[in-house]
Amino acid sequence: MANLIEVKNVGKRYERGGRPFWALRNATLAVAEGEFVTLLGRSGSGKSTLLNIIVGLLSPTEGEAVLCSTPLSGLTDEAASELRNRSVGYVPQGAGVLSTLTVLDNVRLPWYLAHRGPEPEGRAQQLLEEVGLGDLANQYPSALSGGELRRVAIARALMCEPKVIVADEPTSSLDAQTAREVVSIFRRLADKGTGVLMVTHDTFSVDVSDRLYDMAEGVLTERAKA
Ligand SMILES: Nc1ncnc2c1ncn2[C@@H]1O[C@H](COP(=O)(O)OP(=O)(O)OP(=O)(O)O)[C@@H](O)[C@H]1O
Ligand SMILES: [Mg+2]
Repeated sequence: MANLIEVKNVGKRYERGGRPFWALRNATLAVAEGEFVTLLGRSGSGKSTLLNIIVGLLSPTEGEAVLCSTPLSGLTDEAASELRNRSVGYVPQGAGVLSTLTVLDNVRLPWYLAHRGPEPEGRAQQLLEEVGLGDLANQYPSALSGGELRRVAIARALMCEPKVIVADEPTSSLDAQTAREVVSIFRRLADKGTGVLMVTHDTFSVDVSDRLYDMAEGVLTERAKA
């Protein structure tokens, strides 16, 4: 199976209080078509830093990231955002939905940004139903709970039928049952060939994932699955 994500010897150095420190060191990781990969690690260990590099929102200090066979290093911001929109379902940490659009329009937005023409009949509504929000389609985000907003972000990430899903704690602030449903959606998509890279603390995701990586103080290691 082809790799959808390839990260080779990637590092990210930040400055803090005038002193440099490495948030990520020499990280190497791959996610192939049809693979569900989970990334675990304590708060501040560098997980979001790695994900942001993978989706082309952050430049690494060293090393190389390749997304859907395209090296990110040579791309302009515009080209990176085009690639992300076309191929990646990114669920950022936090809500990140637009408060001036209804829930339904938030989910639809990536389709129109990708210039893909008319939306397939009812697709956004169907995705909202899959994440249990069918009844809230016409509400504005200000009327939603934290967990409902997370689910809007998940539905939105699936709108353009991404080749690869990169999700940063998508199940945080969800109850166990809803979290399981979200993870099951990702698992089903992986079984149909989508690559999934997910940061989580849920043991259920660990159980259904094909491979696991641990992040500790910027150091990434693959865990042998028991
Ligand atoms: N722009 C920045 N400038 C300086 N330091 C940063 C910056 N962004 C992140 N960091 C630091 O880099 C480290 C890794 O941050 P990161 O967001 O990747 O952690 P994380 O594993 O995603 O944590 P969490 O589980 O809390 O989301 C942290 O110590 C953080 O404070
Ligand atoms: Mg994070």
